Amino acid sequence: MKVLVIGSGGREHALAWKIGQSSRVDRIFVAPGNAGTASEQDASLENVDIADNDIPRLLEFAKQNEIGLVVVGPEAPLAAGAVDAFSESGIRAFGPSARAAELEASKIFCKNLLRHADIASAEFHTFRDAAGAELFLTSRDDVPVVVKADGLAAGKGVIVCDNREEALAAVDRIAGSKEFGDAGNQLIIEERLVGQEASVLAITDGRTILTMPAAQDHKPALDGDRGPNTGGMGAYSPTPIVTQEIMNLVEERILVPTVHQMKRSRRPFRGILYAGLMITKHGVKVLEYNVRFGDPECQPLMMRLQSDLVDVLEATIDGRLDEVEPMQWDPRPSVCVVMASEGYPGSYEKGRPIRGLKEAALVPGVKVFHAGTAIQEGQTVNNGGRVLGVTALGDTISAAKLQAYTAVKCIRWEGAWCRKDISDKALR
Ligand code: AMP
Ligand code: GLY
Repeated sequence: MKVLVIGSGGREHALAWKIGQSSRVDRIFVAPGNAGTASEQDASLENVDIADNDIPRLLEFAKQNEIGLVVVGPEAPLAAGAVDAFSESGIRAFGPSARAAELEASKIFCKNLLRHADIASAEFHTFRDAAGAELFLTSRDDVPVVVKADGLAAGKGVIVCDNREEALAAVDRIAGSKEFGDAGNQLIIEERLVGQEASVLAITDGRTILTMPAAQDHKPALDGDRGPNTGGMGAYSPTPIVTQEIMNLVEERILVPTVHQMKRSRRPFRGILYAGLMITKHGVKVLEYNVRFGDPECQPLMMRLQSDLVDVLEATIDGRLDEVEPMQWDPRPSVCVVMASEGYPGSYEKGRPIRGLKEAALVPGVKVFHAGTAIQEGQTVNNGGRVLGVTALGDTISAAKLQAYTAVKCIRWEGAWCRKDISDKALR
């Protein structure tokens, strides 16, 4: 079978790499992919120069090349109806429909769904313009809040505020100066929760839910969770913060009612349901839902997955997830350290040659997933903010961390940096 993976991040490299291990797959195309997917040892992997949001051309490519399975990585093409388009043409595609992807594409839709399903989440108020939000903020106590743009904003439309002054500035950025464009047509002001964050990803066909081991992302740019928010500077799995007891609770009180409520809303959910959680003193609360694999959470998860991913993806599309064997996971933990470009999450220069990738790949237990990389004149160069996801397995979290950072030390390019404390939260 031929598979088309859509996207160009570390997540898509990890998915393509894992899919390549399936005995049922002969060829994998990644659109548009990166230098990592272009230079996998596995010769069956190849990049296709089509943007991840160009649905008409992706569809044409899939038809011409008799693609048997499409896997959509990022949220934007899902929200734009990529899976609907492939399915209507009789091509099997993994991921939610556009209507179901609203769970991520509209934070207001998500919050209302959580409320209707009685799922624990932060208190919230929604607004259609800056004036209403400002009136709300100035007419109540000055407490920490989170201000969010309703729509997709590449993970940047969430502003965590300490006080009213910051909240008013956030409202202005989202709804006044429209920094995130139409994503800010509506906004949410939420109670600011305090606790530890964790990601629980599950795969569901709308009836059966298979939960994956919990992971933890590191969103702030700097060590100790300081600095601006990023797409994620590293992740590890499993995280001891999510105990078996918490996992059971997440399944019973969060995932199951969400899948039911989506069905009742006539938006049956098929794909990856990614619950962003805050573990607070008052219980586990949902911060948000994503409708695809997390990036970078996908990298440590794919390192640990032992089952054939293609079987699970196909069973999800066909609505027979109840028939597949439970997914098998390597009991060893995995740690992924993201190496980023100088200046990220602000602006950065591209095109700087990356050295030491071969040496890094030789470190035992390590796989270097590429994200923002490209090949220019035969050299691998940085081509995005998050450049590499150096991922390692180890007998313990500390051992996996050590292997990952040993490999990181082999890799150099001008301005390269990473957080030094990925997975330390597990050890505290
Ligand atoms: P989201 O995209 O909604 O997950 O938000 C991005 C990040 O903002 C989360 O990972 C949290 O760190 C933070 N965040 C979002 N909502 C809240 C909240 N209600 N309380 C505290 N932090 C939040
Ligand atoms: N790791 C956060 C995300 O994928 O949204």
